[in-house]
Amino acid sequence: MASRYADVYAGWKSDPQSFWSNAANAIDWFERPARAFDADAGIYGHWFAEGITNTCYNCLDRHVAAGRGEQIAFIYDSPVTGRVERISYASLLGDVAALAAVYRKLGVGKGDRIIIYMPMIPQAAVAMLAAARIGAVHSVVFGGFAANELAVRIDDCQAKLIVSASCGIEPGRTVAYKPLLDAALDIATHKPAHCLVFQREMAEAAMTEGRDLDFAAALAAAKQAGEEVGCTPVASTDPLYVLYTSGTTGQPKGVVRDNGGHMVALKWSMENFFGVQPGEVFWAASDIGWVVGHSYIVYGPLLNGSTSILFEGKPVGTPDPGTYWRIIAEHGVVVMFTAPTALRAIRKEDPEASHVRRYDLSKFRALFLAGERADPDTIQWAENALGVPVIDHWWQTETGWPVAGNPMGLGLLPVKYGSPAVPLPGYDVQILDDAGHPVGAGTLGNVVVKLPLPPGCLPTLWNADHRFRAAYLDEFPGYYKTADAGYLDEDGYIFIMARTDDIINVAGHRLSTGAMEEVCASHPDVAECAVIGIADDLKGQVPAGFLVINSNVSRETSEIEREVISLVRERIGPVAAFRLAICVKRLPKTRSGKILRATIQKIADRQPWKMPATIDDPVILDEITVALQGRGIGV
Ligand code: COA
Ligand code: AMP
Repeated sequence: MASRYADVYAGWKSDPQSFWSNAANAIDWFERPARAFDADAGIYGHWFAEGITNTCYNCLDRHVAAGRGEQIAFIYDSPVTGRVERISYASLLGDVAALAAVYRKLGVGKGDRIIIYMPMIPQAAVAMLAAARIGAVHSVVFGGFAANELAVRIDDCQAKLIVSASCGIEPGRTVAYKPLLDAALDIATHKPAHCLVFQREMAEAAMTEGRDLDFAAALAAAKQAGEEVGCTPVASTDPLYVLYTSGTTGQPKGVVRDNGGHMVALKWSMENFFGVQPGEVFWAASDIGWVVGHSYIVYGPLLNGSTSILFEGKPVGTPDPGTYWRIIAEHGVVVMFTAPTALRAIRKEDPEASHVRRYDLSKFRALFLAGERADPDTIQWAENALGVPVIDHWWQTETGWPVAGNPMGLGLLPVKYGSPAVPLPGYDVQILDDAGHPVGAGTLGNVVVKLPLPPGCLPTLWNADHRFRAAYLDEFPGYYKTADAGYLDEDGYIFIMARTDDIINVAGHRLSTGAMEEVCASHPDVAECAVIGIADDLKGQVPAGFLVINSNVSRETSEIEREVISLVRERIGPVAAFRLAICVKRLPKTRSGKILRATIQKIADRQPWKMPATIDDPVILDEITVALQGRGIGV
């Protein structure tokens, strides 16, 4: 079948208002917006500004009202606890409506913020949907972040309530969440009134009298008393959630997501991009702490009336590299989404893909990859192993849904390995040089999106309009800066090559080297430092810290390196995967004092590099080369 992509994209470009108005018909509104876009509202305009709606209603109530209550909404598959649970739309609605009543009783209402710090258990999704139901704004914090990161988020969004669990399960260890939560509450200057804690039997948490409440008991009591609340009508432009993501400083950026535009975009993408129909099983193997979890574990599949898998496990070791294939076969998954790093982990343990042959994957139609660059080798390995299209697509926390990809729902286009294919309707992607001039096909430059951004993308940063403008809009007036570098080829295919800021991508997790430098520099013996991302076969990149020690320090440098590694784990969290710190005499700099991070990275990655013309002292690069070789890097 010929792809409808070219027609659909051209249709959007010639009349974006009609395109998105039509897409908005797939959503239920309490008051339908008269027009799709209001260019005078918000920072760059607002989508569906006059619309009144509710995201929870569209995810749950309307499917149940349409007689589909018995259909499965979530399949919770947890190889780390040996559990599989199937939760119907009707039963999920019951829990969500009751938890919404618990929130109300705790004094939480429309516009109040709720932090959710939970592992991959169904209660986490219930907590998100219950917030949406009453118009509260949730902010999910990934479990691999440390107490300090949690505290920063509590303070920034001034959370009224925290929903958490006693523990998460990582292979080989139980991660007690509650001590991290207690420590965060000690550090934070803002003190939420209550914490609702879901007790798991693997590690029960000690509760603080008066502040902490048992999640399951509160929910059961609300259900027994028949307490349920309906959906609060919210403006389309009201925030649904804030999701913090790494910025160029230790202060994360609070990406805001609205209600109306978000629903319209996600619903459109489920059918037209991923090619998934209501009633089918879709699986995004990510975590609710990331944008992928928000968009494609919880909201997208439920808005679409599909079944979504909540997976508590890892691609390998829980128990073997066949887990993904087991889940696809056992639950009839038609389309799956994961990060390339997960496939590299599976391939490393099962290069012949022998585990695939243990399962019946006849229902499986496509595997989508995003979160980091998908290397052609990994894509081809997966295509051969699975016999289905393996589709790279590119997007960001900020956009909330794919900017570019090969649209399965509209009909696949020819594949070009190394490219996430073409821009989706809504996105006019262009490449500009540093002075803001368009560059020709095949020329590397700044990847930007012409304003306005489509529905679903961030309207601003939480309480930080100025930072939003400064970070994304000011450098290239009229465009949104993605902070990715890349090029468009002569067929309009996009190639994403690198970041233009300090962000690195570690196992599909977005991290700021600037934030790690702030932590390294806070060690009393460290005079200055540089953190870079170096290439890693499994995780794509891993951080490496170069430390210059104060001249009056006579301790063993290996001891300081160990302390700095622990400090990063303690302040940012294990997810930073910061395991390499190297003490060096000096850092290479330009004559104006700028650290030459890019050159250090090239040396470490064994890439060709040129002596920067502005370097202050070239000998320092030899010192760095020797220091890296001492750790077996760059040789
Ligand atoms: N809670 C607490 N700790 C967590 C955590 C969580 N939710 N997630 C990860 N961590 C910890 C890990 O246990 C590990 O700790 P350790 O240093 O004690 O070993 C550390 O953070 C680093 O984790 P990770 O980078 O994930 O490395 P790994 O070696 O444990 O696993 C992969 C490697 C490739 C298997 C794993 O990264 C993976 O499954 N990646 C998929 C990527 C993904 O889902 N991306 C989401 C965006 S699409
Ligand atoms: P996050 O906000 O965590 O989703 O990370 C977004 C960043 O990850 C992007 O700006 C890119 O740098 C990178 N990224 C995501 N998907 C891809 C992809 N398919 N190809 C290349 N880079 C990607």
